[in-house]
Amino acid sequence: MLIQPKIRGFICTTAHPKGTRKVVSDQINYVKSKDPIKGPKNVLIIGASTGYGLASRIVATFGAGAKTIGVFYEKEADDKRTASAGWYNTAAFEQIAHAEKHYAKSINGDAFSTDIKQRTAELIREDLKQIDLIIYSLASPRRVHPVTGQVYSSVLKPIGQTFTSKTVDAFRGEVKEITIEPATDEEIENTIAVMGGEDWEMWIDFLMKENLLAEGATTVAYSYIGPELTHAVYKEGTIGRAKDHLRITGDKLDKKLKNLNGRALLSVNKAVVTQASAAIPVVPLYISLLLKVMKEKGTSEGCIEQIYRLFKDNLYSTTGLHTDELGQIRIDEFEMEKDIQEKIAALWPKITTENLETLTDIKEYRREFNRLFGFDAEGIDYNQETDPIVKIESISSILT
Ligand code: NAI
Repeated sequence: MLIQPKIRGFICTTAHPKGTRKVVSDQINYVKSKDPIKGPKNVLIIGASTGYGLASRIVATFGAGAKTIGVFYEKEADDKRTASAGWYNTAAFEQIAHAEKHYAKSINGDAFSTDIKQRTAELIREDLKQIDLIIYSLASPRRVHPVTGQVYSSVLKPIGQTFTSKTVDAFRGEVKEITIEPATDEEIENTIAVMGGEDWEMWIDFLMKENLLAEGATTVAYSYIGPELTHAVYKEGTIGRAKDHLRITGDKLDKKLKNLNGRALLSVNKAVVTQASAAIPVVPLYISLLLKVMKEKGTSEGCIEQIYRLFKDNLYSTTGLHTDELGQIRIDEFEMEKDIQEKIAALWPKITTENLETLTDIKEYRREFNRLFGFDAEGIDYNQETDPIVKIESISSILT
């Protein structure tokens, strides 16, 4: 099959197996070029196939030599359609990991469900006995509650007032004004049910009950704060409420894990181009500016650089964690630097469709977006027929 990008709004419905392999191996090579980490031994990553979760799996494996189990929800290819990017990423990750004799197994299915938690528990019991790090990196628009069966859908809306701002259609190159009506109470509750901490707590409670957490086990979930510019739609919007819930859950889990001398933490990460961030209004335009000003300063980072620092300089550093007054790890410090944010705030009102290419680094935004799906990867001939069917060596799937 000839595999080309098919972009619809903020998603790409195709992915390229060879291109994703190149992008994954670039991340692996980055980690290998850095100092090894005296880190975790047995790691569970929930949301392990793309973005921050994939980077966590790569750093754990190639930075710390850990055994990993990855859980995610991805689509396999058939004769007509390519697999999803996360499927190909995992196939490539496992091939490289296995070739270098690292243990890596993957579970495909709905992490919110009881079935997947049970399957994961079985695999840990059989292969690893106990785990000492659990990364929670899910980003999902929807959750079926495992007990009640209720379906929750998350929304990305402001709270209390209508919000009008600029946004970009990155591929059309159009800057437009967007007005988002405030969320209803039900929409706020729904978003908290999907992206808040309830499922994280269910995972940890379950693994603890099954005696699968090692002495000193750590769990980390990822969060975001960002600047004033995006507060109405992020920090103070529905997703921000969910992140508040995640933080409060983290405090609860931290107390529970103290029985094992363990800890639960939130890491506030930088805004990066991922499938999840592409879906948030206003944020892609902000990221295109961020890419420009951080590149100019030489401080630009993607998922892999961020997570390497999370492990090396925080979780497994001898000098301890870099936290804020709420106890959250902050690896977004370069994004939040005063000069960076002042430059962005000054440029923001000036951006128009006409000057988008010069005032922002929209080109880099597009390139990074394309690379999420294995396009724009160096050395890949996209005009060559490619077999879309690629196996993940260790996959077990429970699909509903
Ligand atoms: P992503 O879209 O790249 O990855 C989401 C992962 O969740 C994938 O592995 C996907 O397969 C998995 N997933 C989704 N629904 C699932 C389900 N029902 N069952 C099993 N797996 C499922 O997202 P990204 O951006 O890496 O986000 C991960 C976390 O990092 C989120 O909590 C997000 O809020 C946070 N974060 C993201 C930032 C960004 O700029 N992208 C910034 C700071 C934090």
